Amino acid sequence: MATRDDTKLALVTGANRGIGFAIATELAARGMRVLAGVRSSEKAEKATEAFRKEGVAVTPVVLDVADARGIPETLGAIARDHGPIDILVNNAAILIDGPGGFAARLLDMTDDVFQRTWETNVLGPSATIRALVPGMIARGFGRVVNMSSRAGQLTGMGAGFPAYRVSKAALNALTRIAAAEAAASGADVKINACSPGWVRTDMGGAEAPRSPAKGAETAIWLATVASDGPNGGFFEDKKAIAW
Ligand SMILES: NC(=O)c1ccc[n+]([C@@H]2O[C@H](COP(=O)([O-])OP(=O)(O)OC[C@H]3O[C@@H](n4cnc5c(N)ncnc54)[C@H](OP(=O)(O)O)[C@@H]3O)[C@@H](O)[C@H]2O)c1
Repeated sequence: MATRDDTKLALVTGANRGIGFAIATELAARGMRVLAGVRSSEKAEKATEAFRKEGVAVTPVVLDVADARGIPETLGAIARDHGPIDILVNNAAILIDGPGGFAARLLDMTDDVFQRTWETNVLGPSATIRALVPGMIARGFGRVVNMSSRAGQLTGMGAGFPAYRVSKAALNALTRIAAAEAAASGADVKINACSPGWVRTDMGGAEAPRSPAKGAETAIWLATVASDGPNGGFFEDKKAIAW
């Protein structure tokens, strides 16, 4: 049986449903120790049961990424309970532009929508990276996956979802900056961004062509990539895409 010493510990944020749930399930099915970030203890209880039904042992931990100031302390407590985190998947995000989706206009957007989107989609991942990557560098190993979106590509950036688009473009920038700093350390720490495609979740809607498991594939690849794998890239279907 694998022990704490030879099994990596992964944390997936926003893992009680959707793509995050699929990522956590598959990482655990591959024998990894997995922590599923959820927003409350009630959601932790439900998630425990949902993972059990999938036949995997995943441990929910309460981590609200919108509380960026509280993240260092929360992650410190999680590491004391479970050990150092080797793999971080920044999956949690919100899409609250609207009404109107693609029709939602920047010119109509409120500061509240922009601020709440920024807190969850940018400040949260920034805080988890700053809390965990120094330890990864010190230990000589780490993988970080930032779940981005084609909505964040500056190439072809157009109208629609203004707060969400800005947040994912910022997450992409954060990915490149953090990856460059990790590379400068010389440690085997890889930080990449990915797009899951259009996925059938609460966020993606019922019409989306991809299952959550399909949407999880590239994130899982990046979370488990070998030492000669990419750093500082943006991928969909395991292939580089334009920023
Ligand atoms: N679905 C798509 O087509 C699509 C396309 C491109 C990119 N993405 C990206 O893929 C990722 C997952 O999307 P999804 O479709 O699975 O979304 P989803 O179905 O809406 O699920 C979002 C997850 O994030 C969690 N979350 C939201 N705010 C949080 C917070 N403050 N702290 C902790 N967890 C929080 C939610 O928890 P609660 O249950 O507590 O709300 C939920 O578990 C996101 O980064 C999204 O931007 C999705």
